[in-house]
Amino acid sequence: MIRTKILGLGSYVPDRVVTNEELAYLDDQHVRQETLQTETSDEWIQKRTGIRERRYVPNDGTWSTSDLALHAAKRALTDANIDASEIDCIIFGTLSPDMHFPGTAVILQKKLGIDKTGCACFDIRQQCSSFVYALQMADAFVRTGMYKRILLIGAELHSHSLDYTTRGRDVMVLFGDGAGAMLLGPVESEDPRDGVMYTSAHADGSGAMDLYLGLFDIAHRPYLFIDPKDRETNRGMYPQMDGKRVFLNAVRAMVMSTQAALANTGMSWDDIQWFVPHQANLRINEKVVEVAKIPPEKVLNTIQFYGNTTAATVPLTIDHWRREGKVKKGDRILSSVFGSGFTWGAAIFTI
Ligand code: UT7
Repeated sequence: MIRTKILGLGSYVPDRVVTNEELAYLDDQHVRQETLQTETSDEWIQKRTGIRERRYVPNDGTWSTSDLALHAAKRALTDANIDASEIDCIIFGTLSPDMHFPGTAVILQKKLGIDKTGCACFDIRQQCSSFVYALQMADAFVRTGMYKRILLIGAELHSHSLDYTTRGRDVMVLFGDGAGAMLLGPVESEDPRDGVMYTSAHADGSGAMDLYLGLFDIAHRPYLFIDPKDRETNRGMYPQMDGKRVFLNAVRAMVMSTQAALANTGMSWDDIQWFVPHQANLRINEKVVEVAKIPPEKVLNTIQFYGNTTAATVPLTIDHWRREGKVKKGDRILSSVFGSGFTWGAAIFTI
């Protein structure tokens, strides 16, 4: 029987570390000013979110999401010992694409130097749930024999589209730049626990306006006109969030999808080495761990160092702790995610 194996893993974060303390002094070009730009504090951010710092790309106009993805993809290719020319499909999850269209997967394909291979390129728009959605797609493609070398990417460049004023502080303090990548391919195995064992993906569109960016809100602004300096109209340039509704729905959906993953596979925490939740808020993850009765020593978080990198969080977190020596080849992971949409899901797989 063909099963889907994870052949390689890689991640990338930019060098610039932005602490909570520095964040309060950044202007909209990410340049540190003498005077406070946003009324926030290290104490508030750490207490409410667990975040200590995040990474930002250099603000020199040369970076886009596909560049972060390129670095992560190259590391995953090296890890898998696979040449880029072997990739026959790219699945790219991001809410911060290089441009409105075309999708970022084709731009990454070109940067990888494989544009002439003609490989399939998909962009998916499931925000913080992209990893599980992409894994489900990749697993189906591999098991049906459609593709044999799939590059799964989650990458985000958030730092250029945040509101660096007190008005936007609830969202701005949460997000960071980064990328994670996985290479997936087929393996012959009769063991149903091998490779990608389980995926589930769900959505509830009634939550769409609880976390959104209305930049291309055609129904209400048919002709895009925003003066970035006009505080009355430039709100549409930034993500809007009802934080409490997102928080409550995230806890509920991540608990439910984690419990369903165990029930549907007949597994217990004795069979699983690590729980890797999406990294939106440490308090969300602590609540999920408490309610779903997950052994705390099996939980991996990185939000303290990277903030919320949306589509990148799960592969970035696994790769971070693998480089720290915690995660080992052959470990089984249960991952649970929740994001804008609302979208959510869970997966069990062996790394
Ligand atoms: O991947 C999915 C993406 N997003 C999420 O999952 C986020 C889910 N939601 C959350 O993480 C939390 O709701 C937040 C961290 C966004 C906010 O935490 P909270 O405990 O729900 O705070 P709150 O919205 O109830 O705000 C409490 C106070 C308010 O002030 P007043 O009205 O009590 O005077 C806010 O204006 O904290 C204020 N506040 C801040 N203060 C300092 C909001 N953001 C900040 C800030 N710094 N950055």
